[in-house]
Amino acid sequence: ASRHDHGRTAYHFQPAKNWMNDPNGPFYHNGIYHFFYQYNPHGPTFGTGKLSWGHSVSGDLVNWAFLGAALEPTSPFDADGCWSGSATVLPDGRPVILYTGRDTDTVQVQNVAFPKDPTDPLLREWHKPSCNPVIPQPADVTGNNFRDPSTAWLGGDGLWRFSVAAEVAGVGSTLVYRSADFLRWERNATPLHASPDVPALECADFFPVAERGTEGLDTSAANVAGVRHVLKLSNMADEDYYMVGWYDDAADTFVPAEGERGSDVRKWRRIDHGHLFGAKSFFDASKKRRVLWAWVDETDGHSDDVAKGWAGIQAFPRALWLDTDGKQLVQWPVEEIETLRRRRVALLGAEVGSGGLHEIAGIETQQADVEVIFEIPKLEAAEKFDPKWLQDPGKLCSESGGVGPFGLIAMASGDLQEQTAIFFRVFKHDDMYKVLMCMDLTRSSTKEGVYKPVHAGFVDVNVEKDRSLSLRTLIDHSVIESFGGGGRTCITARVYPEHAATGSSHLYLFNNGSGSVKVSKLEAWELGTASVNLEDVSLPLA
Ligand code: FRU
Repeated sequence: ASRHDHGRTAYHFQPAKNWMNDPNGPFYHNGIYHFFYQYNPHGPTFGTGKLSWGHSVSGDLVNWAFLGAALEPTSPFDADGCWSGSATVLPDGRPVILYTGRDTDTVQVQNVAFPKDPTDPLLREWHKPSCNPVIPQPADVTGNNFRDPSTAWLGGDGLWRFSVAAEVAGVGSTLVYRSADFLRWERNATPLHASPDVPALECADFFPVAERGTEGLDTSAANVAGVRHVLKLSNMADEDYYMVGWYDDAADTFVPAEGERGSDVRKWRRIDHGHLFGAKSFFDASKKRRVLWAWVDETDGHSDDVAKGWAGIQAFPRALWLDTDGKQLVQWPVEEIETLRRRRVALLGAEVGSGGLHEIAGIETQQADVEVIFEIPKLEAAEKFDPKWLQDPGKLCSESGGVGPFGLIAMASGDLQEQTAIFFRVFKHDDMYKVLMCMDLTRSSTKEGVYKPVHAGFVDVNVEKDRSLSLRTLIDHSVIESFGGGGRTCITARVYPEHAATGSSHLYLFNNGSGSVKVSKLEAWELGTASVNLEDVSLPLA
């Protein structure tokens, strides 16, 4: 049996078997990338939630070796699960982990862990001091929602801070704690963010970004002119939201750049408009970039997970930086993906007329990296945008208009019975143009019990000035990650095409708009198979 049975991916991170959810504690240390994750070593489901931290290492963010569990639920302060958290690399190079434990009474508390042997290059073993929990659950926390500490950062006063999501008397809050030693923590009276709209938030991430350029900043970078901060929060309905703003490192408060969006995170910007959750970033000092990890859950049936013996993958690591508008993030697969590029096909200056379908042949596209730049010769043909469409952009994806839908059809069976379309539509909006990006999963699989929504998000680009629109798509057996407008709008989803078992799929360009579009450039690469956590590959996959 091939290792791609049951939709196993070729270059996305996943354990050899069992359940995985949130990314935890990523950091770069002495030439090695460390990655941890919510892991159930006992089976392919979340089970009772008594999770461990799985630990893998890599030299290139592409190929990974599994080291076993770094944290296991064996202490009174985490007996019911070592839940999500983060790592901080101290100025002397020693990493420290902050994580949420569910204690013997299932109460959520914050714990600390240090490498047992800081000279071990792989940092395999972690010590949980007996002074844990370093932060018991505060009396005003409700709903037992107090979890997922962020990476810590140094303030101007020399104290460490981290943020953590907490439901405080029914209000969804992001608290800040300060400490000199990671052991004794004091809560700041004012939260970074608070809103009653979503009481139970998770997986806070808080980090600085430069106003100019694509370089990342250390989480503890000086908070000077030219630096903004990003607050990212996850809500329980499987969505990640963020807001760019300004951080006051004396008061530990955060002022959003888009205050008009309000405090309800569901009105903030989306990390990804598809099915992606629990994103967490880290600063990669070796390449001076900020890299984002995020969990991409299974969306087939529970019994499928049990049958295949594994569940959950991570999005391919993305570099991320602030767009020149100072409000939105740009995300792009880390450049190391190019080491996997094999056979390439290209297309220059092709026209795709109304109703056109053009196959991209010559490479195997079940594991591929596709970059397209579209040109829109007749932008004026775009129909007028009706503001009430803002309520339900997904509905617009199923209609055709003057400009679009045009884009890609991926993971298609020969008869097109199964296919996933990723595309744009362009509307005229006042004196501007509005671009919608969609991923239509309704025909992605003929299998029963698969979640097949239409994902949609607007793309904040000036299509009139640019006259072009870019789309990059990573395809990997059971996942499609798409980056629209140079990475300003992302849509990621799992797909379960039944024809995939035949070992080959088709890829097309299409245009269902009434005007033609031009493909000024298309490049598609077949991608090689990375070595991802292969230690257990000799074990039979269920
Ligand atoms: C998010 C989450 C976290 C928690 C972890 C448990 O997916 O619920 O809030 O720490 O998963 O696995």
